[in-house]
Amino acid sequence: MKCTIHAARQFTRGTVDPRLFGSFVEQLGRAVYGGVYEVDHPASDEEGLRTDVMNLVRELDVPVVRFPGGNYVSNFNWEDSIGPKESRPTRLDLAWKALDPNQFGLQEFMHWARKVGTEPMMVFNLGTRGLAEARELVEYCNHPGGSYLSDLRKQHGSPEPFAIKLWGLGNEMDGPWQVGHKTAEEYGRLACEVAKAVKLFDPSLELVACGSSNVFMPTFPQWEETVLDHAYEVVDYLSLHMYFRNEEKDIATFLACSAGMDSFIETVVHVCDYVKAKKRSKKTMYLCFDEWNVWFHSLQKDKEQKPWIVGPSLLEDVYTFEDALVVGCLLNSLLRHCDRVKIACLAQLVNTIAPIMTETGGPAWRQTIYWPFYYASKYGRGEVLDCRVEVGSYENAQYGTIPYADTLLVHHPDTGEIDMFVVNRHQRQALAIELDLSGFSGSYTLFEHIALEHKDLYAVNDKLHPDEVVPKQISHGDIGSVVEVAPLTWNLLRFH
Ligand code: AHR
Repeated sequence: MKCTIHAARQFTRGTVDPRLFGSFVEQLGRAVYGGVYEVDHPASDEEGLRTDVMNLVRELDVPVVRFPGGNYVSNFNWEDSIGPKESRPTRLDLAWKALDPNQFGLQEFMHWARKVGTEPMMVFNLGTRGLAEARELVEYCNHPGGSYLSDLRKQHGSPEPFAIKLWGLGNEMDGPWQVGHKTAEEYGRLACEVAKAVKLFDPSLELVACGSSNVFMPTFPQWEETVLDHAYEVVDYLSLHMYFRNEEKDIATFLACSAGMDSFIETVVHVCDYVKAKKRSKKTMYLCFDEWNVWFHSLQKDKEQKPWIVGPSLLEDVYTFEDALVVGCLLNSLLRHCDRVKIACLAQLVNTIAPIMTETGGPAWRQTIYWPFYYASKYGRGEVLDCRVEVGSYENAQYGTIPYADTLLVHHPDTGEIDMFVVNRHQRQALAIELDLSGFSGSYTLFEHIALEHKDLYAVNDKLHPDEVVPKQISHGDIGSVVEVAPLTWNLLRFH
């Protein structure tokens, strides 16, 4: 099947904020204990941080990591996680029914973040707590010294402020499952007052207000409107969360789910702009898609997990080749909306619904979904081109008309290179990709084609077979301007 893509230099969707390739470490399951932090592991450094995991995180190059939750944060006391480790209390985490020993706290996270080269996105507990604790946390983290809490941080061994710029105003506050769940009115007021208070401390802080937990919430999109009615002028981003699943083994629908992500984003943009118009505001609200991924493989097993232990094996989805194709489509959706989605966090980073998997006491390896994320993070930082794509399509009951090719082009003005991410959704036919760059001056040739392909949609990477699903170099050197991409594959095509 032919797929012709027309692109022109002047027509761009926007410049990608590198924070689109962020991720998320929640105090959940083995994300921390047995994941990023494992004191007795042979690969751990003097702080108990697993160097094998840090190497993979550095390779993924995630510019921002959200912490410490997620649902966890809504019953978290930040004061429990600071100071000498031996005097920190063990608490019950009500969100995940686990024991929380508080051994990997604020300072440990900050050290880890510096070592892997990422910026923190710290989330306030607006479930069981509120304005006072948020204000105090900001003082502890960011004030240089001379106040009670900043001096306490110094006493705890961090003379320099953590300088955390990006903060989340709670997590999924629209969800009845959330400890301290709120109505949109209650949350909108609280978010506004917390935002005002912490911006009195430092107006340059960037704040993310909670949008809906997913597109199916009965309060969506009224929630967004009400929250923004209260907080529009004092927050900088509105969050979106969305997870995708394929229990029915319906690949045509699963591969189309990025159309669901597209329409979720576009609806939220419309609500933001509607509130902007109502308020006669000059400010544009940007979006922070701070939880997205495939999540369903572990749901059944998690029901059998024993409660109240440290680091239970929760949400340990083992991702298939099929999931990697879907993650490739979801990344294209985020990039397509780079004009409004400035920050996104793949949920999550290690062990819990994550691209990186470990065995406690054993090795770490890359899951299938690691690969499309790795390449998007490496080659997706540029200007997204607004293309016209001519290709066949199929009808899907849930998502409507879906093109067989999910394509995304990124131009790098500094080098002139154009990188294309393509998922071929066709189950039997190859796509003959032709790129029409007549809207660019000069001639372009394809010089590299990397593909993720496997004959088994359900192939996985595991401890014994960590390289079962890995990218392949399809060709080297100049290989002409029409290229075939095989059915059901993810591809990176590089032109110069
Ligand atoms: O990422 C796992 C959980 O999914 C998060 O804790 C929560 O915010 C969402 O429901």
